[in-house]
Amino acid sequence: MEKLRRLGTLRFVNACSSLGIGLAGFGTVGSGVWNTLERNGELITGRTGGCVQLHIAKILVRDPAKARANIGEVPAAMFTTDWRALVADPAVHIVVELIGGTTDAFEIVAAALRAKKPVVTGNKALLAERGVELFALSKETNTPIHFEAAVAGGIPIIRTVQDSFIGNRILSFSGIINGTSNYILGRMTDAGLTFEAALAEAQALGYAEADPALDVNGWDAAHKAILLATLAYGFPIDPASIHVSGIEQVRPTDIHFAKSLGYVVKLLAVIREHPDRSVEIRVQPSFIAKSNILASVHGVFNAVAVHGDAAGESLFYGRGAGQDPTASSVVADLVEAGRALGNASGHRGFLPYRENGHVLPVRETSTAYYVRFDVTDRPGVIAEIAKILAEHRIGISGTHSPVNPANPDAEFVDMVFLLHTCPFGKLQDALAEVEKLDCINSEPVVFRIESLG
Ligand SMILES: NC(=O)c1ccc[n+]([C@@H]2O[C@H](COP(=O)([O-])OP(=O)(O)OC[C@H]3O[C@@H](n4cnc5c(N)ncnc54)[C@H](OP(=O)(O)O)[C@@H]3O)[C@@H](O)[C@H]2O)c1
Repeated sequence: MEKLRRLGTLRFVNACSSLGIGLAGFGTVGSGVWNTLERNGELITGRTGGCVQLHIAKILVRDPAKARANIGEVPAAMFTTDWRALVADPAVHIVVELIGGTTDAFEIVAAALRAKKPVVTGNKALLAERGVELFALSKETNTPIHFEAAVAGGIPIIRTVQDSFIGNRILSFSGIINGTSNYILGRMTDAGLTFEAALAEAQALGYAEADPALDVNGWDAAHKAILLATLAYGFPIDPASIHVSGIEQVRPTDIHFAKSLGYVVKLLAVIREHPDRSVEIRVQPSFIAKSNILASVHGVFNAVAVHGDAAGESLFYGRGAGQDPTASSVVADLVEAGRALGNASGHRGFLPYRENGHVLPVRETSTAYYVRFDVTDRPGVIAEIAKILAEHRIGISGTHSPVNPANPDAEFVDMVFLLHTCPFGKLQDALAEVEKLDCINSEPVVFRIESLG
């Protein structure tokens, strides 16, 4: 630590020293970053081969005396209300901007870049409105701005565009990138609520801000669309040049008609490159076919479909906002910034960091099961199989013996059992006994019934 303090703002610090974070903003996302680092700090250090150790050195807030829920003890000396002091503090190597807005946030990010301290931000409004100035400063000072959290919360879509799809010409994006409006439209569709009632419900549940303007007028999604398009197509995009309309205009009648025609209404962001290389960017309530995968994105979830000329179509789905998902993206950016500061960005393969890791034996893995037996068609077969399953304490949730329409009098028939969750080993033991019954003609076929999520 002492060494780091002496090194001050130098870009390359001792790879295995702890890096100090200046956390500007300790609200929903800022406190999520604190909690995530408390919980997973050692994991991060292990995964980076010891090269990235992160600690929070200073926290900027408006009111240091404010009671803060769901957070462990934070030393009072860590808080400041002076952003200049936070940026200038020699113990701060990376500045995280999570205060929101485009005024103070701009000053903080600009000052950090001038001090050659890498910046991590989740502020899409700032980057969409004033990104041109900030990215120019970033280039001039050779100091990066990371912003994974600015688009689709916990979904790693920025990294996907910047890294994973770097070898693709991106043909299009289409996405649901505002969870609040998706929740409201969902409630209008499923519960028949009016826009006003659905908005009030979203606010009561904490899914919408007290001032939900940017969510419902489409501009929150538009800011994110601007960032995606900027990355994919490489030129600054003037917010005034894109088409944005919100969901305030959606009425129950629209929802009703959409349903009767086989559609659902979603606030969709569409970004598409045309053959003349012009880029279409728009955010608006849209009818999409019920069969489209985006139609099944419910509640506050987000999804972005990316079409690359080489990779084809990929879908990214997950939590587009919220404390932990957004903190997950901020922390990923912190590690990237930390790797670069420690000059450790080459170590991107596999670095073993657990001595006692082991794979759960397959016999200990548990799910529910579908088991198909090929049985001789005679009375008592079900009871014989059920008896063995019961002896092994395996519950049965259903049995079925479909008639073979091609041969209704067949001697051998399929007999299907649906079984409750149990360890696979227990099922294997039971089936080994069942197979010995003279009514069983071949090895049973087992499929797992997964309850994903
Ligand atoms: N919430 C999400 O799910 C989410 C998702 C993606 C991106 N983001 C982005 O992340 C950023 C932060 O959002 P949030 O929801 O965490 O906001 P928030 O809960 O309102 O927290 C804001 C924090 O910043 C502090 N702050 C605000 N203005 C300040 C100023 N002028 N000087 C000093 N401190 C100031 C506040 O201090 P006090 O605590 O003293 O009031 C508070 O700690 C925004 O840009 C937002 O768009 C949020």
